[in-house]
Amino acid sequence: MKNIVLVGFMGSGKSSTGRRLARKLGYDFIDTDYAIEEVTGLTVEQIFAKHGVKRFRGEEALLVSKLADKENLVIATGGGLVLNPQNIEKLKANGIFILLKASPETICKRVKNKRTRPLLARGNLKHKVTKLLEDRQDAYQMADYSVNTDHLDPDTIVHIIYQYLLERGVIVRNH
Ligand code: S3P
Repeated sequence: MKNIVLVGFMGSGKSSTGRRLARKLGYDFIDTDYAIEEVTGLTVEQIFAKHGVKRFRGEEALLVSKLADKENLVIATGGGLVLNPQNIEKLKANGIFILLKASPETICKRVKNKRTRPLLARGNLKHKVTKLLEDRQDAYQMADYSVNTDHLDPDTIVHIIYQYLLERGVIVRNH
């Protein structure tokens, strides 16, 4: 079965939703940030600090190449992974893209994990989030389906995605 690829900005709920969705579907769960930390032996923060954003994007691209021909995965992507069109192309070959959306206000409340989010570590958080969100609007347009997560808890988001996947025939009901 096709992979389910969760895309969206930092704090949109990709990891919390993805873990639950994978459990519901009986799929393996991959969080690209954690997979990169495992492969490199460095935290995301350390990769950015020691080697820069380019190296991190390189690690993302390498990981995508490894994941693209796999099946039955729920993949929670880092918020910038879709900025590379090749990543989209590779994951689309066997994946359905679900965009999780959130307002700048919601994002600012949710992005507490500094270790995996060096891009938001310094400066005015609201300004940074608003600017980056604007810059990325186009990259997020390729999603097959989107859910606004502002007022939804992870279980409700999972339910909505699950219904969509059933309707699209991407999955069959397992109970
Ligand atoms: C990034 C998002 C982060 C992480 C890295 C870069 C981005 O992942 O990959 O800090 O460019 O938006 P989350 O979206 O899981 O926070």
